[in-house]
Amino acid sequence: MARDTKYSLIGIVFAAVLAGGLAAGAQTAEQAWLGHGHFHGLPPVPMHVRALGHEPLEKTAVNELVKGIDNLYGSSPLIGGNSAEAGIVVGTADQVRAAYPALNLPSMLLPEAFWIGESDSGGKRAVVIAGGSERGVLYGTFALIRELATSGWTPGTTINESPAMPIRWVDEWDNPDGSIERGYAGRSIFFESGNIRQDLALVAEYARLLASVGINGVNVNNVNGASPFLTPDFIRGLKRIADAMRPWGVRLALSVDIASPQKIGGLPTFDPLDPAVKAWWTAKVNEIYAQIPDFGGFTVKADSEGQPGPASYGRTPADAANLLANALEAQGGVVLYRAFVYNHHADWRDPKADRARAAYDIFHPLDGKFATNVIVQTKEGPIDFQAREPVSPLFAGLRQTNQAMELEVTQEYTGQQRHLVYLAPMWKQVLDFDLRAGEQSTPVKEIIAGKSFNRPLGGMVAVAGVGREAWLGSPLALANLYAFGRLAWNPDLSPEEIAAEWTRQTISNDPEVVATVTKMLMQSWPAYENYTGPLGMQTLTDITGSHYGPNIESSENNGWGQWHRADHEGVGMDRSVSTGTGYAGQYPPEVAKIYESTATTPDELLLFFHHVPYTYRLHSGMTVIQHIYDSHYDGAAQAAEFASEWATLKGRIDPKLYEDVRDRLVYQTGHAIVWRDAVVQYFLKLSGIPDEKGRAGHYPGRLEAEDARLTGYKIIDVTPWEDASGGKAVSCGEADCAAEWSWSGQPGRYNIAIQYFDLPGGVAHFTLKVNGRPVDAWAADATLPSNHPHGDNSTRRIIHAVELKQGDMLRVEGIPDGADPAALDYIEVSPARAT
Ligand code: GCU
Repeated sequence: MARDTKYSLIGIVFAAVLAGGLAAGAQTAEQAWLGHGHFHGLPPVPMHVRALGHEPLEKTAVNELVKGIDNLYGSSPLIGGNSAEAGIVVGTADQVRAAYPALNLPSMLLPEAFWIGESDSGGKRAVVIAGGSERGVLYGTFALIRELATSGWTPGTTINESPAMPIRWVDEWDNPDGSIERGYAGRSIFFESGNIRQDLALVAEYARLLASVGINGVNVNNVNGASPFLTPDFIRGLKRIADAMRPWGVRLALSVDIASPQKIGGLPTFDPLDPAVKAWWTAKVNEIYAQIPDFGGFTVKADSEGQPGPASYGRTPADAANLLANALEAQGGVVLYRAFVYNHHADWRDPKADRARAAYDIFHPLDGKFATNVIVQTKEGPIDFQAREPVSPLFAGLRQTNQAMELEVTQEYTGQQRHLVYLAPMWKQVLDFDLRAGEQSTPVKEIIAGKSFNRPLGGMVAVAGVGREAWLGSPLALANLYAFGRLAWNPDLSPEEIAAEWTRQTISNDPEVVATVTKMLMQSWPAYENYTGPLGMQTLTDITGSHYGPNIESSENNGWGQWHRADHEGVGMDRSVSTGTGYAGQYPPEVAKIYESTATTPDELLLFFHHVPYTYRLHSGMTVIQHIYDSHYDGAAQAAEFASEWATLKGRIDPKLYEDVRDRLVYQTGHAIVWRDAVVQYFLKLSGIPDEKGRAGHYPGRLEAEDARLTGYKIIDVTPWEDASGGKAVSCGEADCAAEWSWSGQPGRYNIAIQYFDLPGGVAHFTLKVNGRPVDAWAADATLPSNHPHGDNSTRRIIHAVELKQGDMLRVEGIPDGADPAALDYIEVSPARAT
């Protein structure tokens, strides 16, 4: 991935000032990040594109170049020309060598690699894209477009890149009916009503988007319930999906149910060692390749969360993986066998039980037993995509096995695209983490690239969850998909530079905009971690349901094993070898030693590895309990900052995008307060230790709904109690209801926050009146999870700068609708800041 500038300044100048950009809610690849804003600067530079080859991927490359230049400069380049003309030359290294013999290309380019440099043949300067193969040509073309869009072409530059790892896939967890497991962006782009969708235009657009950042495979279906996808009708339909993605070199892959021979094949067994089962898979694989000759392979979830697996026959994951691998080998396919295998009926009373141990305990003994076309796909951490986990020790525990790291672009546990959480900094920490296997430097990024242990295959896989609503539902969430592709291509890139690159291409290259958006993105994961679950407690969410709002006890006292073991004296899981579950001992000795002791475990993972009293002092000098209070107040304050930072961009970016993101950030500000208050009041009650800054449990200006004069509203207990202020709310079972308070503060201008529950299944309406005069009215029409009032749907509306004087009547009227009972938690009156 060398980049150097070795040619002198020469003629073609691609200086561009870009502005404008993404239209909110739109759904084409152009409107994700390939639109590149619009050129608002120097007149377009006339140029030619000279295509040296005509293979399908080369044709795609030329089309993309034309589109990219058109987007950037406002006019299309001419296609054609010869070596004596200035322009952009596109071809494989062999084609370039034949056409430009004097050009000093690298002697060897791997198939996916490319070189971009300049030729001055015949006195005319040209920019040359040379690919190691047609695929390299396509990636090189997208790289040049990115270069033009982000910084413009600097004469004299050469770029020589090849991807760090061969497997760069996204997994989609789409179901045949068009729903998407853990998807937050509407319905499937692939399936509907049990079939492949007729119109696959979005699939082609998605392939463009993926190829533009080097992603080369899409596994299109849910890892749960995959058997219907292998029926002959479905396979014929899947061919259409593969055809739609092929022009961009993106290969189709499928999740398979290991019990398929029995479920859809009519065999009495799915025992991986049964000859009839082997024959069934070979025939099935051949049937697939007859339709889809470049089929990528299978992803498998087995013996996990209710999915069938080889354990039913006393067989191992290696037996199951190799069964499929043998069937695929002759055709060039691979098996991604997921290490996400654990017992979800674990005994929480057993201090030695530990879900975090499962992947290593099961897979480490199988090292060396997997076929060469099997890749063990391991989640980045040992639990399940939490806001913070340590790196999975399995990466160091498999040295004779190909490995891929699995992560989530879809923000399952990290705010579900309603919260701004840019995940690249978290992934980067994992990629850079040095596991010190064999007491050598073995950062995760080198292990999964196959470098550390000399493995032929390896890579990165992201569960993407794209849908029909603007790909990921939220415009800024697209930075995560972009960052995943960029890091899988080059894990040495920094999250900041990726954020800036994405912003320039997607929103605007106005330096103020780039700086502000990059800053917001970079602040977002730490903020989220702070107001959800700091110190390695994991995301303190409803782990048995939506995985969205706060629900602290949902992870305790059940078989799912996401325990943090909080009681009135202390909190955290003891995973040490000496007194705990022994999980820390799964790491190579140098790392195990760090995690074994509270003295050396970093603060951010303390409670993942150790159970300590609330009064335990962190390395920061603060007690655990005070850190819990402070981090939640800090995190919620940081979340509020995002809205202010974004406000500075008004007038500088597309107005629709501005408004869309502004509304999301206002929502996030309110929901971060829901999180803050839930976690803080929970631990205040459990520990009995007050907040030394006096905030926890004290809410100046807050007027509880249950203390109001109620008309029609009935007081209800909210479950879990910590999700409502004081554990209670009011709910309306009549045609309309009201809650009324008389104001007793000093006269002045105040902001009034109304905390209500926006339930699905109806659009309740609210009005705030002061002395009978309406000051605001709104509809509770958001789409939020759960059908009873709690932290998933607790929502804040703020009415700014209302004049109040002592004795004023504040009245909230609620009109329920359908299943939404216009439930209300409290109002909070706080002085409006002078502007
Ligand atoms: C998470 C997620 C499930 C998913 C599972 C998996 O637990 O909540 O919906 O099936 O991961 O990775 O298989």
